[in-house]
Amino acid sequence: MGKSTITAALALITAGRGMKVLAIDADPDANLASALGIPLADQKAILTIARQKRLIEERTGAKVQQYGQIFRINPEVADIAEKYSYRHKGVDLLVLGAIEGGGTGCACPENVLLRSLVQDLVLHRGEALFMDMEPGIEHIGRATARGVTSFIIVVEPGQRSIESFRRISAMAEEIGIEKLFIIGNKLRSKADEDLIRQAVSGREILGFIPFSEALLANDRDGRSVIDDLDDSLLALFEDMAGKLL
Ligand SMILES: Nc1ncnc2c1ncn2[C@@H]1O[C@H](COP(=O)(O)OP(=O)(O)OP(=O)(O)O)[C@@H](O)[C@H]1O
Ligand SMILES: [Mg+2]
Repeated sequence: MGKSTITAALALITAGRGMKVLAIDADPDANLASALGIPLADQKAILTIARQKRLIEERTGAKVQQYGQIFRINPEVADIAEKYSYRHKGVDLLVLGAIEGGGTGCACPENVLLRSLVQDLVLHRGEALFMDMEPGIEHIGRATARGVTSFIIVVEPGQRSIESFRRISAMAEEIGIEKLFIIGNKLRSKADEDLIRQAVSGREILGFIPFSEALLANDRDGRSVIDDLDDSLLALFEDMAGKLL
């Protein structure tokens, strides 16, 4: 759909403006690292929080992958982003990873730690923070929603993507997210733009990104999303980053 592409572009551009930027990959099928242009060989050095058994056990007081335990529901998390993030082109990347077994909804120690981490980050850190999420919003609760300054849904010109938009915007509203924005992606014509405008009517549109061979080639060749983009596309991302900040 373009979530990782857009997250990476906005994070890189914001870091380029001299801000402290934290980019969080909260998609269990994590791929923000490659969108940022981190070479495959270097990605091995990135630690995935959900796999840090010792950290999870130490902070929650419970054993990973065991049922019927008592654990701390408010583990200490304030230092984790700093310690576990990987810096690339001025962006600090934190990869949350997938929760095995019970899934994202389970009340297991891994999940408790991830949730606490996300809530702490969104509410307390005075810096630019971009989070790339799966097409669901499992990590965000009501308390966190209040700290979210912009929640962006990426919509492609197609019925399936529009259905996802409806489902996700309803979920976002339910948990109390106020600033909801739309980015239309992979547009090939004015008709595509009209389709999205109509489908999201009443929502604020942050911008429309055309279908771009350069974006596709950057993914194919493992380059950062903003490498060698033409000026007009780069200006589009710059404009969106400006609006968000
Ligand atoms: N505007 C665009 N024009 C052409 N290709 C694009 C555009 N936006 C994204 N892509 C390509 O579409 C593919 C999917 O994009 P991306 O990985 O950003 O989506 P995603 O929503 O993060 O997907 P996933 O659910 O797999 O994480 C990539 O190959 C990317 O390069
Ligand atoms: Mg992605």
